[in-house]
Amino acid sequence: MVLVSSGMRETLELAARVAPLDTGVLIFGESGTGKEYVIRLIHEHSSRAGQPLVSVNCAALTETLLESELFGHVRGAFTDAIRDKAGLFEVASSGTLFLDEVGEMSAGLQAKLLRALQEREIRRVGSETSIKANPRIVAATNRDLRSAVHAGTFREDLFYRLAAFVIVVPPLRERREAIPALAKEFLQRAAVRFNKDLQGIAPDAMRVLLDYDWPGNVRELEHAVERAAILAAGPRITALELPPELRLQDGGEPVDSGFDLEEHERVLIEKALEQFGGNRRRAAEALNISTVTLWRRIKQYGVRVPPARGGTR
Ligand SMILES: Nc1ncnc2c1ncn2[C@@H]1O[C@H](COP(=O)(O)OP(=O)(O)OP(=O)(O)O)[C@@H](O)[C@H]1O
Ligand SMILES: [Mg+2]
Repeated sequence: MVLVSSGMRETLELAARVAPLDTGVLIFGESGTGKEYVIRLIHEHSSRAGQPLVSVNCAALTETLLESELFGHVRGAFTDAIRDKAGLFEVASSGTLFLDEVGEMSAGLQAKLLRALQEREIRRVGSETSIKANPRIVAATNRDLRSAVHAGTFREDLFYRLAAFVIVVPPLRERREAIPALAKEFLQRAAVRFNKDLQGIAPDAMRVLLDYDWPGNVRELEHAVERAAILAAGPRITALELPPELRLQDGGEPVDSGFDLEEHERVLIEKALEQFGGNRRRAAEALNISTVTLWRRIKQYGVRVPPARGGTR
């Protein structure tokens, strides 16, 4: 069993190394850390890449529904079974079957899953015949499965079968060095999605992102950057556009130092332009800079100039 808890690079390296081996993988990580992201990477780098990657959330379905979802059913097996239906084991037989939140599976289903993995065949609910099904099983959990085994709520034999290779995705607060790269990646995605010309993250905003504790991990970071991207008026997102809870840590003190010179310059320019109704000459005079400098700053910060209310611009 391989266990790693350090940086994301190591996590992704492990994923890349286990990908081509046709073995089961168990991904452990808090909510929103990127478990599914790692699983997709494993599937895409495996010999099953052209085949389906099928996901099922074991916590979202009742025991009966999950069983028929996984193994299928025959017509008449229960009231709603109006025709034969293949389960995900068959659908993903040449591909990868992703069991999300596998720790939530009931004892009865754990036994059936173990049997399916051992025999490499399944039986549709209500059927007497076995069908060959051999998907690669990749499972994820945000729960400590080992203590679930100790507590007797998760089968030890199933645990060892699923956890042939364990990959731990560390929480974001333990890999802060990844924040700038992730934030930039999400900003680019948002720029494309919202069709905005967003070029970067102002230092004050980056400071806030680096200081925050990220209980919601990568997904929370993604949403924070998206929100800022929507609100941003200029080409860079600033601390002001980030969700307020990011700036209010430890007793509600804003983390923002308020000393970002460029940010203040941008705000002043916006105020002046607003006050003088978009008249650049008068705004430049008030700011005590030349119109050429003002013009340059407007471009640099991507300031939106209000439409002129008459007069020279
Ligand atoms: N290393 C990464 N690079 C780029 N994007 C990432 C990375 N890790 C995670 N993400 C993105 O973060 C978001 C959350 O990741 P994902 O859905 O894989 O988390 P999860 O651990 O499965 O969450 P949950 O526990 O809620 O199911 C996704 O949009 C994913 O694309
Ligand atoms: Mg997930």
